[in-house]
Amino acid sequence: MDKLLIEGPTNLNGTVKVSRAKNAYLPILAAVLVSDKPIKLKNLPDLRDIRTMLRLLQNLGVKIDDHEDHTSFDASQLTGHEATYELVKTMRASIFVLGPLLARLGKAKVSLPGGCAIGTRPIDIHLKNLEKLGVEFEISSGYVESKSSNLKACHLPLSFPSVGATENLMMASIFIDGETIIENAAREPEISDLADFLNAMGASINGAGTSKITITGVKELNAVEYEAIGDRIEAATYIFGALMTESEVKVEGMNPKHIGFVLDTLKDMGANLEIGEDFVLVRRSKLKPVKIKTAPYPGFPTDLQAQMMALMTKIPGNSYIEENIFENRFMHVPELVRLGAKINLSGNSAFVEGGRPLKAAPVMCTDLRASAALVLAALVSEGETEVRRVYHLDRGYEKLDQKLNSLGAKVKKVNE
Ligand code: UD1
Repeated sequence: MDKLLIEGPTNLNGTVKVSRAKNAYLPILAAVLVSDKPIKLKNLPDLRDIRTMLRLLQNLGVKIDDHEDHTSFDASQLTGHEATYELVKTMRASIFVLGPLLARLGKAKVSLPGGCAIGTRPIDIHLKNLEKLGVEFEISSGYVESKSSNLKACHLPLSFPSVGATENLMMASIFIDGETIIENAAREPEISDLADFLNAMGASINGAGTSKITITGVKELNAVEYEAIGDRIEAATYIFGALMTESEVKVEGMNPKHIGFVLDTLKDMGANLEIGEDFVLVRRSKLKPVKIKTAPYPGFPTDLQAQMMALMTKIPGNSYIEENIFENRFMHVPELVRLGAKINLSGNSAFVEGGRPLKAAPVMCTDLRASAALVLAALVSEGETEVRRVYHLDRGYEKLDQKLNSLGAKVKKVNE
């Protein structure tokens, strides 16, 4: 098992380019299943979740070939309709194949995702609304077996703007005659990206990026070449890293509007940021404490809560976080405390008394974003921090060690 050895404190300097967004490519890869026409996707990030989704597609009969500047997909001959427990247990996003398989084959068997480190994460919103479209379900032996012979367009008001449910329902509806309308839809940029991809294939989806999405059924799709948006969560993670280490770093390859709320929050805190079309230049800044509450897009993303907490540990004074999306997303707290941070938890609130010196210690990654927070904290901790179980990081940060080292950090990946 790999671990990272990070020597701190360190200064960063230079330019870092973010990868294409994993959370955009996961549903786009699932959407490959809806079409029998050739698909080319550019710059897939080399990440464990992406590799898992590729394996899942291959298990279902999709032919995948790597080329110099793209990956090609041929889903013309699907040979299965089942996402097994073995794959789903390692990646909850496997549930994304449910909608596409129903749209294409009228049947799907998908293992229930089960619990995960950051909470129970049910799929009731996915199932309840697929049922409204006419899907019949049976849940047995840990699997959702579903079939649909005659799907009907209808209104789908979501009880919560779930990202995954919005994406699954969009994909399930693309061939349904008439207008399917998702209300209270999630508005994340990755939803718009999926809609752009599906529309480029010939689907008819309007309103993605707003809370009302209208899908008008089409009869067939065409071949497509597509590249997903840059990873806004990865970008913000490097921006936080630059601020924590009081460095000058240019983070490029994403649309800064996709983290508009985060950048506004940082500016309110005193961050000296130059914001371009596809980059953010971070300059040395003196920051003030802040209060944040995670919320669905366009609010503060839960996927940046842990990294924000790492940043707060560096800012003298009292900062506050309220986590409103996942019920158990504070597992980085005891690890940050091991580095010397002072953080008190009460329910879904965290109180951070920042500005205390951090000192290297062995710490353990618990989930993807928590791991990123520990790496950031290690950059400013005195001595060599050992970050264990970094396989979590490989789910979502492409070449994190190499990218940080190119900025001047001292990060070594070693096999335990
Ligand atoms: C996606 C992102 C994840 C991010 C999350 C919230 C991907 C691959 N993952 O996850 O990185 O943290 O959005 O921004 O894009 N819920 C239910 N019932 C459901 C569905 C969701 O109760 O049927 C709850 C979840 O338990 C959670 C909340 O709604 O508490 C948000 O979940 P959701 O928006 O669906 O997140 P994901 O699509 O799983």
